[in-house]
Amino acid sequence: MGMDEIIVGLEIGSGKVCTVVGELGEDDQIEIIGIGTSPSLGVRKGIIIDLEQATQSAKKSIESAERMAGTRINSAFVAISGNHITSVNSKGVIAISGESPEITENDIEKVIEAAKAGIVSSEKELIHTLSREFIVDGQSGISDPLGMSGARLECKVHIVTGSITAVQNLIKCVEGAGLDIEEIIFGTLASSHAVLSNAEKDLGVLLIDIGAGTTEIAIFVEGGLAHSAVLPVGGIQITNDLAVVLRTSIEEAEKIKINYGSAIKNSASPEKLVEVPSINGKNNYNVSQKYLVEIIEPRVSEIFGLVGNEVRKSGCYNMIPGGIVITGGSSLLPGISEVAEQVLNLPSRLGRPHYQGELADMINDPSYSEAIGLLSFATEKYSIRSSFQSTKRKIKVKNIFTKIISWLKDFF
Ligand SMILES: Nc1ncnc2c1ncn2[C@@H]1O[C@H](COP(=O)(O)OP(=O)(O)OP(=O)(O)O)[C@@H](O)[C@H]1O
Ligand SMILES: [Mg+2]
Repeated sequence: MGMDEIIVGLEIGSGKVCTVVGELGEDDQIEIIGIGTSPSLGVRKGIIIDLEQATQSAKKSIESAERMAGTRINSAFVAISGNHITSVNSKGVIAISGESPEITENDIEKVIEAAKAGIVSSEKELIHTLSREFIVDGQSGISDPLGMSGARLECKVHIVTGSITAVQNLIKCVEGAGLDIEEIIFGTLASSHAVLSNAEKDLGVLLIDIGAGTTEIAIFVEGGLAHSAVLPVGGIQITNDLAVVLRTSIEEAEKIKINYGSAIKNSASPEKLVEVPSINGKNNYNVSQKYLVEIIEPRVSEIFGLVGNEVRKSGCYNMIPGGIVITGGSSLLPGISEVAEQVLNLPSRLGRPHYQGELADMINDPSYSEAIGLLSFATEKYSIRSSFQSTKRKIKVKNIFTKIISWLKDFF
């Protein structure tokens, strides 16, 4: 199998760097043959703040994925995050010219360009232009207007941009770690490919990826991304709260959170005692598990409160009857979904990848949603590329037709 059939997803997160290696087989099925994670240094709140450290962390993760896959990696699809990411909805309009009033590939490109005009500034790097719908002579809800007749073509797009500096540092980091970049993809958009069903996206759904340093949100309405944002809070804040209140180290607080933490009282027992190692290691003491909830719950509520503000600001609150899907490593905190329901007043479920191959047990972890989603995004792109080649269509419209690929499709 040639190198071009190897597809790699790379997430440089605030807590870990994760590299996933997939092999694209027949029927666009992907088999995951390697995964490598390493603690991530030099990344804070989703942004690279120390290039040298981040590059070393990425190298380690890549090397361990290569070892497991038994193959060298040359390039990757890379996720981007951080609260420099902004996203807006925009609309373009053009008149259809030419002899026959038939919409061509060129017209589609022109109307998308028109929608971008004025949005992309010199300080911002364009990450995605996602078409939400086309409108031909007032007729809305069209996903692909190619070949249709009409005099006026409109296009609604969702545009995701990021800070040029942050994007450039990400590129330097990945290249410094020895890989070419196939494409940079907004993290939550990637996660959505791993954890959301098409039915949820069509109905309207809020995806929340709570990692170590960020909470990324994406709202899907009528199948397309309608709003997205990155909040600079995550699991690290919960760990810090525990460390401060319990007067213990960050490392011990992290262990206590992972082994005994909970966000709701009824999953914690008041009798269950947890030993807290003191900073000097001499005066260890016990606290009840219920006490841990009292420290953790306010922070979790606060995070969902911030998410709620963002959702209300977007004007989409009434458009998400599909409810909330929570993923990312912090979604492993017991009770987190219940708190989300209380604060946001929407039904909520947990989301994780639904890979069905050999390494499924290891891979279907919510902290891998983003990296696995990158593979799914990439696979879809490859399959669209091949179907486009057969119909002589260009890849330009690649992001328009959002389909979840077959290995993720049947997970409900
Ligand atoms: N069982 C658990 N209970 C509570 N929190 C957990 C659990 N397991 C992992 N976490 C938390 O999940 C976080 C890591 O999640 P994840 O790997 O998704 O982050 P990341 O992708 O590195 O960071 P980010 O996406 O924010 O840049 C850490 O804060 C960790 O403490
Ligand atoms: Mg992450």
